[in-house]
Amino acid sequence: MLIKLPPRLAACAGLVSRGGVLLDIGTDHALLPCFLAEANRVRLAYACDVAPGPLSAAKADIARFGLSRRVIPLLSDGFKDIPADILPAVTDVVIAGMGGELIAEILSPAPRSEAVNFILQPNSRASHLRRFLHDRGFQVASERAVIDGRFAYTIINAKFSGEPVPRALSDLEAEIGHLDPADPPSREYLLREASRLKAAADGMSRSQKPSPEAEKILNLSNQIAAFADKKS
Ligand SMILES: C[S@@+](CC[C@H](N)C(=O)[O-])C[C@H]1O[C@@H](n2cnc3c(N)ncnc32)[C@H](O)[C@@H]1O
Repeated sequence: MLIKLPPRLAACAGLVSRGGVLLDIGTDHALLPCFLAEANRVRLAYACDVAPGPLSAAKADIARFGLSRRVIPLLSDGFKDIPADILPAVTDVVIAGMGGELIAEILSPAPRSEAVNFILQPNSRASHLRRFLHDRGFQVASERAVIDGRFAYTIINAKFSGEPVPRALSDLEAEIGHLDPADPPSREYLLREASRLKAAADGMSRSQKPSPEAEKILNLSNQIAAFADKKS
């Protein structure tokens, strides 16, 4: 194997269907599609990026790895410029390494097919993405965190179900998603989220008089920490 993935992308790769057709949106150097094609774990992969610079780097890497017949570069802003004849064959969509808000924005015009497996790895604002998925009829099949160097990332595996949404997610539900604190990386991720919120609340309290908003964030942080430490 020529290609090695960091733990974050390896965890995303592990969720891609064997023998499937992958669309990697925001591919940068096309590391993930090249890895899966080289390992014969996908039939075909589309490596999509909105920026010509990363796409040229992707093209060079695809050629260097001798994968030009099975990894196809596409210049597209999310789904917007993906040729319509490609989408029906796609089994898996990966959107990794971006903020949760941008991932939600990219997903807005995504094909509402129950057959497509979405693998989403937000670098920030995961709660925003979880709310988007919940409100737009996506169902989360699993969510797990991974530790990669100094960072903890969450990876959400979802499918569109079109089921009606019974109610909005609470703030706590949007923060913890489907993470299981019995899984050590997921617990670590939750504790880091709790610390991040606590720091934000402390910062707000220092810069202004105690506010209901700071108190709400601190309370949320305490609830996340208590959930992370819950014995199962
Ligand atoms: C930080 S890199 C992540 C690369 C890779 N997915 C990973 O997880 O390591 C984000 C990439 O997403 C691309 N990108 C940002 N917005 C995009 C959009 N709307 N459509 C396609 N690509 C996008 C950027 O050009 C950049 O190459």
